[in-house]
Parts: sequence; C-alpha cells; structure tokens
Amino acid sequence: MSGQKKTYVQVGLGGRSSMFRDAVIGKYGEYSSLAAVCDINEGRVKLAQMAAREKGVEVDGYSAADFDRMLAEKKPDCVIVTTKDSTHAEYICRAMIAGCDVITEKPMTMDAEKCQQIIDTQKRTGRNCTVTFNYRYAAPRTQVKELLMSGVIGNVLSVDFEWLLDTKHGADYFRRWHRNKSNSGGLLVHKATHHFDLVNWWLSDVPESVYASGTRSFYTPETAARYGLTNRGTRCVECPEKSRCSFCLDIEGNEKLRQLYRECEQYDGYFRDKCVFNPENGKNFEPGVDIEDTMALVVNYAGGARLNYTLTAYSPWEGYAINFNGTAGRLQFTTCETTYVNGDGTTPGELLREGSSIKIFPHWSNAYSPELKTSKGGHGGADPVLLDYIFDPSAGEDPLMRKADQRAGAYSILCGVAGNESMRTGSVVRIDSLVQGIGRPDYPPMPTVADPLTLKPAEPASP
Ligand SMILES: NC(=O)c1ccc[n+]([C@@H]2O[C@H](COP(=O)([O-])OP(=O)(O)OC[C@H]3O[C@@H](n4cnc5c(N)ncnc54)[C@H](O)[C@@H]3O)[C@@H](O)[C@H]2O)c1
Repeated sequence: MSGQKKTYVQVGLGGRSSMFRDAVIGKYGEYSSLAAVCDINEGRVKLAQMAAREKGVEVDGYSAADFDRMLAEKKPDCVIVTTKDSTHAEYICRAMIAGCDVITEKPMTMDAEKCQQIIDTQKRTGRNCTVTFNYRYAAPRTQVKELLMSGVIGNVLSVDFEWLLDTKHGADYFRRWHRNKSNSGGLLVHKATHHFDLVNWWLSDVPESVYASGTRSFYTPETAARYGLTNRGTRCVECPEKSRCSFCLDIEGNEKLRQLYRECEQYDGYFRDKCVFNPENGKNFEPGVDIEDTMALVVNYAGGARLNYTLTAYSPWEGYAINFNGTAGRLQFTTCETTYVNGDGTTPGELLREGSSIKIFPHWSNAYSPELKTSKGGHGGADPVLLDYIFDPSAGEDPLMRKADQRAGAYSILCGVAGNESMRTGSVVRIDSLVQGIGRPDYPPMPTVADPLTLKPAEPASP
C-alpha cells in the first residue's frame, strides 16, 4: 500500500494548518505521507515538526526561502498551502510549475492579477488545484443545496444574504494580518469568499457584475473613546486598558495562542494581538486597520438571479440568514453558530440548534420546516467531510460536486475583488473585466425554466 501513498508537503504553519497536517499523518495515513513543512517563521516550523513527532512521524522543516529546494528534494505529489492569503498565489503557481498538484485554503488569492496568474498557470501546467471550501460540506448547507436542486422553490430569482460576525470572532480580524487589505483583500475577499462560493454553488451559477458599498464604522478610535478606552496601547499584551477592555485578547493565557504566536514573535516580529481600534495611520500604529467592517453588495448572476449581500463584523451574535425567492416559492435558512478565536484550540463555528432553521413557503400552500440536518466537527461539521473527500480515495463521487477547483476559487474571490473596486470607484464592476479565461465551474444541474409550475387550486364553485 505504501507504494501508492501520496506525498504531501505543507507551506504555512499557523492556526489552520494542523487540521491538514493531522489528517495526512493521522486518519488518512494509509493513503498519504507528509514529507516536509515550511514557513517564514522558524518557531512555527519547529512546532509543526514537534506536533508530527508526537504522532510518531518525523518531517523535515524548511524556511520559506527554501520552498523550491523543498520541492526539488522531496518531490511531493501535492503541496498544501495554508499561508496568509496574499502569499497563496505565489506558492500555488510555483508548486504547479514544479509539477505538483495543490490543495489551497481559501481565499484562493486576494486580487485579480494573482487570480489571473493562477488561472493561466493551471492551464499551462495541467495540474490540479483544489480550493478547500469547507463551508459547502456542513450538513444544513448541503441540505439547502439538495432542496434547491429538488425544485422545491423552482428557479431562484433573488437571494437576500446577511452574514454576521460577532464582537469576538469578528473583532479578531481587526487585530491580525487580516486587518490590512494588502494581506487579505479585506473581509469581502478573505471572509466573504466562503459566502460568495456558497451562493455560486447553491445557484449553480456564476456572478457577472457587482456593485458595493462599505465602510469601517465600529472598529475605530472613536468607538474606543466612547467606551472610555482612552489610554490604549498598540497591542493587548501591554495595554494599560486590558483589564477593562471587552475586546482584549489574552495570547499569554491561552496555551495554543501562546505557543503559536507569542513565543514565535521573536522570529518575525508578528503580533497577533494588535488593538482592534487602531487608526489607519498614526504614530505607533503602522500599519493600522484599513479594512471595512460594514459591507453591502448587489450581485447580478449570469442566469439572471440577483443577490443582496451584507457583512457585519460587530454583531452581538454569530451566524447568518439567507432567503431564496424562486418561481415556486421561498426558502428561508437561518443559522446561529458558536463563536471562537482562530487557533485557540476550540472547535470553530458549531451550529446551535436553537435559532437555526430551514423554512419553505411554497406558492399556494402552507409553509413547513424540514428537520434540520446537523453534523459534528469544525465549521458546523463541514471540516471532517471535506477531509474525507480530499484525502480518502475511496470517498467516491459526490453528487453535490462539493470539491472545488481554481474556477470556483476565482469566481468566489472575484465578487469581493469587484466589490473592493466598486467601493473605490463607486461604479458597477463586471467580473469579466477583472480576469479572463476562467471557465465555468462544475456545478450540479438545477431546475430549468422549462419545468412546469403549479397554479393555485381552483376555489370550489359557490352553490
Ligand atoms: N476554511 C476555513 O474555515 C479557514 C479557517 C481559518 C483560516 N483559513 C485560511 O488558512 C490560511 C492560514 O490562516 P491561519 O488562520 O492559519 O493564519 P495564521 O496567521 O495563524 O498562519 C499563517 C501562517 O503563514 C505563515 N506565512 C506568512 N507569510 C508567509 C510566507 N511568505 N511564506 C511562508 N509562510 C508564510 C505565517 O508565518 C503563519 O505561520 C489563510 O489563508 C486563511 O484564510 C481558512
């Protein structure tokens, strides 16, 4: 069996990386082996090697500068990319050029130029580029896809989608590298890539044009002043206000955060606990926050549907509500989730049954609520199912076609990239003005406009 094992290497060894590493050397070890790990931060390379050793596996460590040497020496079948977003494209392309397949975390990349590079390099090399859209695999989201495919509300004509990040999980984006567009593309790319991918996949369609408006209204020095947090430091660990600030992150008190970030600061000077209220510019705050916390988009789909989407990063609860309006009725899907801080060792985003539901309103008949399907594990039970489909060769065909490649990766980020451009210019931005030659992603078939619709039953004739 070992002769048929796939060899992996991994670049990017932060909070998200362990899920993939543990999968390759653990549950799927029968089919896969991990040859090496790589990161710009020497401390996190050592931590990853140690974690593998504890599971009985020795892996070699490489610095980011030696990425190409790692590929030459280890000759992996596949490179797992879990670095910060702005570096994905470079590793994806270098890996494909070296003859490797790629598994990359979302967002596939964070701007149009890098996206074009990936699309062109994938075509030239013919390698596989898998984008791990774990959100597709959560049981209730899969259930919604099945309901829409069954034609229960006919053809979807419009969608209202509101995503809420709370003051714990949402705030966390304003203290890490994510708070700068040059790293993450802002939340419209970094976070909303999941949400746009879900809509694209739910509708089996691709976006055509985007209009957006956004601002940063909450994570500002003015909000801090209204809380009376006037004597703030640049980061939580040394902030004079930390004992009374509800937004303080204690990276020394949490073992995982301490090991992964606080004790690795010495290697690269990266602080994971910067003040969420930092201004954009100013003494001691460079680089400050330059992403939005309040965003609204209108997206026109190629098939004619319209999407209204909002993203709020300072909600009192975590979750989302999406309403699909179709030719035969309406589907309402609301989810409340547990909140978390990335990399703190807790299971991220578990579904809370209370406050979560699917409700269907057919035209001309009574509304009903199907029993909500749930599953256990990270991101609403999505992560374990995603890993099965990625690493287990016996997982078989997926009728819902949830495994995504660079085409779905591109269309999901381009909604956000177009949104950023629209916010900058005030104009509608066409997706095909940003990146060319993407190709249509593989999606399952949906009800067609030729399918018959049902009229309201005739009233009995009055006597
Ligand atoms: N699908 C999901 O639900 C999900 C959840 C969390 C994170 N993610 C994604 O996973 C990726 C990693 O996120 P994270 O939370 O682990 O972040 P993190 O900050 O904990 O880790 C990022 C790692 O990348 C390394 N890095 C930065 N620049 C590098 C470079 N040039 N070369 C090599 N390594 C470099 C850092 O040193 C760090 O170890 C991101 O793309 C993020 O969007 C996805």
